[in-house]
Amino acid sequence: MKIVVIQGPNLNMLGVREQHIYGPMKLEEIHAQMKSFAEQNGVEIEFFQSNLEGEIVDKIQECMGDADGIIINPAAYSHTSIAIRDAIAAVEIPTIEVHLSNIHAREDFRKKSITAEVTAGVIAGMGPFGYHLAMIGIIQIMNEIQAMQEAHSQEAQTQES
Ligand code: DQA
Repeated sequence: MKIVVIQGPNLNMLGVREQHIYGPMKLEEIHAQMKSFAEQNGVEIEFFQSNLEGEIVDKIQECMGDADGIIINPAAYSHTSIAIRDAIAAVEIPTIEVHLSNIHAREDFRKKSITAEVTAGVIAGMGPFGYHLAMIGIIQIMNEIQAMQEAHSQEAQTQES
């Protein structure tokens, strides 16, 4: 099973940008923790960050046939990007959206995420630990889907015989 982690604009500046909101941890450090948790759970993981909307759309599309789950922080694009929302809806891969900050407790323009509406779940306001929670969630969803698929194929086999 494989998870693709997609990080949107300005998240490459974590640890430097607005530390009072996003904390001191760098993106590489968050990814290192996610990688070791993925290894402990026997899950493959890939990381991608881009400041460009089209590149994020391309990456989501590339997940088709490659990833079993997506963890995404679309950052500012959460509030503006119909293109990223449509890409998430198009690929039909279970997706969890993460926000380091509690977007509901911030400026009005951050309170609505148009991308979150097509995801399986959202974690906001838990800082870097939110990515860990997202991994627990996506692994659970992927396991449930795999168990369902196995049950279906077993059912099909017994019907054939
Ligand atoms: C963010 C919240 C967004 O509103 C903001 O534009 C970001 C980061 C978060 O992780 O809290 O860049 O997605």
